[in-house]
Amino acid sequence: MASTTLAPHRFDDLDAGSFRHPVSLKWNTYPPDALALWIADMDLPVSEDLRRALTERLQNPLGYSDVTGAAVPLKALLIRRLAEQGVPDLTGEHIRLMPAVVPGLYAAVAAFTAPGEGVVALTPTYPPFHMAVQTQGRVWRSAPLQDDGERWQIDWDALEAAITPDTRLLLLCHPHNPSGRVWTLDELTRLAELAERRDLTVCSDELHADLRHPGAPEFRSFASLPAAEGRTVVLTGPGKSYNIAGIGCGAMISRNPQLLARVQSAVGGLLGQPHAFNVSAWELALTHAQPWLDEVLDYLTGNRDLIREWAENEPLVRFHAPEATYLAWLDLRAHPKAHRMQQYLVEQGVALNDGATFTVPEEAEQYQGCVRLNFATSRPVLREALTRLSRALAQPA
Ligand SMILES: Cc1ncc(COP(=O)(O)O)c(C=O)c1O
Repeated sequence: MASTTLAPHRFDDLDAGSFRHPVSLKWNTYPPDALALWIADMDLPVSEDLRRALTERLQNPLGYSDVTGAAVPLKALLIRRLAEQGVPDLTGEHIRLMPAVVPGLYAAVAAFTAPGEGVVALTPTYPPFHMAVQTQGRVWRSAPLQDDGERWQIDWDALEAAITPDTRLLLLCHPHNPSGRVWTLDELTRLAELAERRDLTVCSDELHADLRHPGAPEFRSFASLPAAEGRTVVLTGPGKSYNIAGIGCGAMISRNPQLLARVQSAVGGLLGQPHAFNVSAWELALTHAQPWLDEVLDYLTGNRDLIREWAENEPLVRFHAPEATYLAWLDLRAHPKAHRMQQYLVEQGVALNDGATFTVPEEAEQYQGCVRLNFATSRPVLREALTRLSRALAQPA
């Protein structure tokens, strides 16, 4: 087991039994003897300051409230945040609040492509990316990332080749789930140049932007690139950073209001608006939960480093420490049980996401034997999971 010395922390003492709350999808999907480190929410408690603010919010009226107008207070906070990420001079007109981020992915596919047209993305990919494409009758085009031995890199030739004449949309994940890459300014610039040259609209899912570890490249929104700003919509939300995925909320942001108008006319009524309480939750998180987020990030970085040290001592594991996110992509394809790795590990007491789901079913074999581990849990639970993984990987075929 990894020996990294990390200072004791209050999260170390969380009662792991309480994670298995009846409403937790993560902890109730697999048998009770499996540690649940899969779907992306945290076992760490939500900010106390945010909880207090939410409770207070419930004392206020719960009728209809303005979630569309330019003066919604949340929009002012998002405008400030985007300015910090390189996108200045936004107004309320540039922001369309949404019930969550995933509906925004579906909306982008519906609005910017027609059935039969292509959508390109870097794989492996967060599964709703390809689901939003295939379930709406569009054609999925994979551009697989390359493992250069140190990190996951864009394979520019593969990306160019994946863009056919009928490809209209690039679904970008920045930071990237599941690799944890934060795309550098050079990479973003090259992607923007490519989008312009190949006439692609870009939907950049930037949900994990606040979950960056020390040493990660500076975060620049894709909409900050001059070549891309007129053809880009950015998606973001509070679910990951503040661990409130159950209180859905999101936003589609674009410097080009015509793109938002296209979304509105294609699916606006179907998409609906976020609930007033959820809009408040995001606003309150941005105003009250920054100290909590700083503390959590520090803890998550410690967990990430623990996994890095563990992986260095596991000959069958290929792993590149994520620059952002609390998700670890483990390449276990060298193991004899690679063809049924996720199920095997559940039997061995650790429930992770199956790598095969991170592309379309037709290409699933490519990531068979990879798994995604969610390390936003208490360190004792993580250490126990790594011990179980070591034991499982050491067993003869
Ligand atoms: C890249 C990415 N986008 C979207 C989501 C889900 O966002 P929401 O719950 O707001 O739909 C996730 C959740 O893991 C994610 O990783």
